Amino acid sequence: MQIPVTKTTTPKSRPPEAELGFGKFFSDHLFSTTYTPDQGWHDAKVVPYGPLVMDPAAGVFHYGQAMFEGSKVFRGKDGALQLFRPEAHAHRMAMGAPRLSMMCPSEEQMLAGMHALARADADWVPHAPGTALYLRPTLVATEAFLGVRPATAFLFFIIASPVGSYYGGSGLKSVRIWVETNDVRAPKGGLGATKAGANYAASLHAAQAAKKQGFDQVLWLDGKDHEFIEEVGTMNLFVVIGGKLLTPPLSDSILAGVTRDSVIQLARSQGLVVEERPVSIKEVRAAAQSGTLTEIFGTGTAAVISPVGELAFAGGEKLIVNQGKPGPISLSLFETISGIQRSTVADPHRWMVPVK
Ligand code: COI
Repeated sequence: MQIPVTKTTTPKSRPPEAELGFGKFFSDHLFSTTYTPDQGWHDAKVVPYGPLVMDPAAGVFHYGQAMFEGSKVFRGKDGALQLFRPEAHAHRMAMGAPRLSMMCPSEEQMLAGMHALARADADWVPHAPGTALYLRPTLVATEAFLGVRPATAFLFFIIASPVGSYYGGSGLKSVRIWVETNDVRAPKGGLGATKAGANYAASLHAAQAAKKQGFDQVLWLDGKDHEFIEEVGTMNLFVVIGGKLLTPPLSDSILAGVTRDSVIQLARSQGLVVEERPVSIKEVRAAAQSGTLTEIFGTGTAAVISPVGELAFAGGEKLIVNQGKPGPISLSLFETISGIQRSTVADPHRWMVPVK
């Protein structure tokens, strides 16, 4: 697929790598393609980054037909640019779109867009270990129509944001987590398995309340009985009990994380036992009391691994994990995945894809 590129005539100055943070700066270009019923997906192009023009009646503003992805471009130690498992991200969006009654470009078209933008903004891929150019593929309904039915016109675009090392280059830091028993991120039968913007909207209220109490994020429990663990913040969740890695099985309320899948594959290839099965908060508490709970961590594209040092419950109970510090499995998985991403560690699963 030949994608026309219109280069910006006013390139921005790039921020110092030490100040990148997450999602604060945006590169010089974006990729976009448009869907209409008569033309299908068309007008794929890379153009200068800038505001979108949309009708105020566009479906995305009213009935929330919107979803996104997040994947990263890394600069390997030899300077070559590589994407981490881009096909897994394209696949997840293609799988999620029908649940939101949205048309979606083919996985091939999405991948072509990711490569085209990574090429156009190659200079925006930062150099320091742990940094990356974060790609944000986004799909929104654009048809101007207020009747409640699926839209018939869509826009798919990708923007790019240079991001820093999540932990500021000082190794992993453990987070303090509030166990949420009121709000629910995603009910059974809902949108939880998709990367719908709506799931993130649903999560903000509890996350904000937890932050006000001095916690970093919340632990999400199942939407029916608040009995089983589901996710942590915006990440998938793993607990280490009796030396085994346990994680809730994929369901319609859990996102099929690309890092989750990478952790499962790596852990198994290192000889660890991984069980994808329901884990109740009762089991986690009992394991903490008996001393068999050794680690809890979240997994996601942004932070890779986020160790949990504390779980706090309504009523004042606190459960401290590994003395509040990152444990050996979290540290080893973080080092291995980050090493694969900057090509300092072998990549037997062939997860890195050269930008072409
Ligand atoms: C991730 O962990 O990469 C996420 O999905 C969070 C993102 C919404 C910033």
